[in-house]
Amino acid sequence: MEPGIREIAQHYLPLRNHYWYARIKLATDPLYAGVGAVLARTREPLLDLGCGIGLLGHTLRAQGFSGDYRGVDIDAAKIASARAAATRARLPGARFETIDLAGGFPAHRGSVALLDIVQFLPPPAQAVLLENAIACLTPGAVLVMRSGLHREGWRLSFTRAVDRFARWTRWMNVGPQRYPRRDELEQRFARHGLTASFTPLRGRLPFENWLICARHEPGG
Ligand SMILES: C[S@@+](CC[C@H](N)C(=O)[O-])C[C@H]1O[C@@H](n2cnc3c(N)ncnc32)[C@H](O)[C@@H]1O
Repeated sequence: MEPGIREIAQHYLPLRNHYWYARIKLATDPLYAGVGAVLARTREPLLDLGCGIGLLGHTLRAQGFSGDYRGVDIDAAKIASARAAATRARLPGARFETIDLAGGFPAHRGSVALLDIVQFLPPPAQAVLLENAIACLTPGAVLVMRSGLHREGWRLSFTRAVDRFARWTRWMNVGPQRYPRRDELEQRFARHGLTASFTPLRGRLPFENWLICARHEPGG
């Protein structure tokens, strides 16, 4: 991936915690390469919901994604850091806003990313968020999600424990609420005529994590 991990991380300086978060996250999490592969052949503008410090914008550019990128997050400090890093990196077509997705949704037409965020919203807000995200999809656009899925087993316990740890360290300002169920997601996508795929995306740690892609069939 060009630019490399260290170069992307350096755009977060002088915030050393964000610098090290970026280095460790990019080195260990297959998320960004996975999402980059999904979006590689698309050019629709991307709305990244719960974008955190905006790492996806950097990695997508490095992988050749040329559509506009807009990141939103409830955490104003992360949005400020994302904005500063994108300016330092001279990321074209990138912008960021502070928004609480439990109470609002930005106007958008194109692709949508929901990466490790759905479980942090209360269940009724999760349903509204998914409906709003699906309504954004234009022909050729993709809804790309990563989430733990609710099913019994120690992998989900591990995922929940890490999400709670992130809250305890204050990296997250909310804790996990409920992980979506695969059958509920499949039914929701089917109601909207979307074709969906579910692929495990765990990396080296035993997360109960899935990469979920949904899109309208060409001509559908
Ligand atoms: C685990 S982080 C994932 C960050 C980013 N998507 C990534 O994968 O690199 C979850 C993000 O969701 C954001 N978030 C949680 N609840 C939110 C809400 N109600 N509205 C907007 N963002 C929210 C958090 O602030 C946090 O940055």
